[in-house]
Amino acid sequence: LMLNQQFPKNFLWGGALAANQCEGAALEDGKGWSTADALPYGVFGEIMIPPPNDYLKKEAIDFYHRYKEDVKLFAEMGFKILRISISWARIFPNGDDLEPNEHGLKFYDDLLDELANYDIEAMITLSHYEMPLHLATEYGGWSNREIIKHFEKYAEVLFDRYAKKVKYWLTFNEINMVLHAPFNGAGIIEKPENISKTELYQAVHHQLVASASATEIGHRIDPSLKIGCMIAGGPMYPLTPHPNDMMEALQKDRETFFFADVHARGKYPNYMVRYFLENDIAVEITEEDKTTLKNTVDFISFSYYMSYCATADEELNIQARGNIMSAVKNPYLDESEWGWQIDPQGLRYMLNLLYDRYQLPLFIVENGLGAVDTLREDEHGEKIVDDQYRIDYLREHLKQVYEALEDGVDLLGYTSWGPIDIVSNSVCEMKKRYGFIYVDKHNDGSGTLDRYKKKSFYWYKAVIESDGKKL
Ligand code: BG6
Repeated sequence: LMLNQQFPKNFLWGGALAANQCEGAALEDGKGWSTADALPYGVFGEIMIPPPNDYLKKEAIDFYHRYKEDVKLFAEMGFKILRISISWARIFPNGDDLEPNEHGLKFYDDLLDELANYDIEAMITLSHYEMPLHLATEYGGWSNREIIKHFEKYAEVLFDRYAKKVKYWLTFNEINMVLHAPFNGAGIIEKPENISKTELYQAVHHQLVASASATEIGHRIDPSLKIGCMIAGGPMYPLTPHPNDMMEALQKDRETFFFADVHARGKYPNYMVRYFLENDIAVEITEEDKTTLKNTVDFISFSYYMSYCATADEELNIQARGNIMSAVKNPYLDESEWGWQIDPQGLRYMLNLLYDRYQLPLFIVENGLGAVDTLREDEHGEKIVDDQYRIDYLREHLKQVYEALEDGVDLLGYTSWGPIDIVSNSVCEMKKRYGFIYVDKHNDGSGTLDRYKKKSFYWYKAVIESDGKKL
């Protein structure tokens, strides 16, 4: 497909990764256990402390040792930016250590230098669904206010060390998902049903304060840094035009917008007062917290995989699966092999919603299709993966991104999720692949870890090369 016009010349095309899903080397060079290691079977699997002897994320795709090969392939596709996350437990193995672990810092220095060799910018997520496990077991994770200061120290070390090399920063990955998966997002070991709303929102509050504080630290170290928040962003549609469904959709949307509101406006939105009152939620918010929260973000980033539906009618509440949050099934949409509802237009809608609400630059930092891929030999004996379905998915989404740009949305860039196959987060499998690059590794842990270019590799390269004109 050829669009009449192209994406902006300076549009930041690339891909996004998370440390715990790609690096492996779970205990190498002084790294401590992280909460991600304690979730070997996915977000809703058993929390295992200590982690078992063997699990997929322990080695993952061994990015820790093979990143040079992978960065070279990203460069071949023409990436302008790579979103990575830093494993907190590589830098502070226990979280409350006095000194950072130099080996951990050195690894990211080398990775960032390798990216710079190819003129690929980096975007760093400070915490992508993980924290040192010790902070969860000994402190109770983010429900404990003390974690803020450990996070501040961690953030300060990273900004100090990498500010010269990295302009784009994110604080917490999909921060709004804490409400749905408290261990995954906030290191609270209790079963979700045993966590009171007060405890949960106190943990949320601590993260919001920590995020604002990290933003202050980053800007103090270098005012030119661009520091953003990151939310899981699927818009909520009312299942019917019934006013009850409209209200339901509004309320559900606020479970997402609340997080962006605080980051963008520097204070709690008014609707939370009523929500806290009606749900007997008593969160400790100090005057100092309020001052810290005023450190607002420079941009808003989000992941987009699907849209959601809301209904006030119990009988129509037929659930569709989602990665962490599930929602009411939308009768107009197709689903992926994992039951996620596919809605390219929802991305344009989401971009407009966010831009209308905040007038801040936006960044799509995750989008993609998790699918089963087959590596086979073609007639010349070449190993290939014909992932036309992934190309179709991405093309339809990028067409809508283009529409949003035409709508006037200020969008900095697009990093597709898992540009190389990695271990999936919600279900922790290799079978669910997102990459342009196939990795020979399987659910049972077998495989050579060799990398192969999929059909989508050549497609994405052409997209970037043509500034999005050739979709
Ligand atoms: C997002 C996360 O929720 O979705 C990623 O930020 C995750 O970590 C991605 O991998 C896709 O989900 P999954 O479960 O298919 O890996």
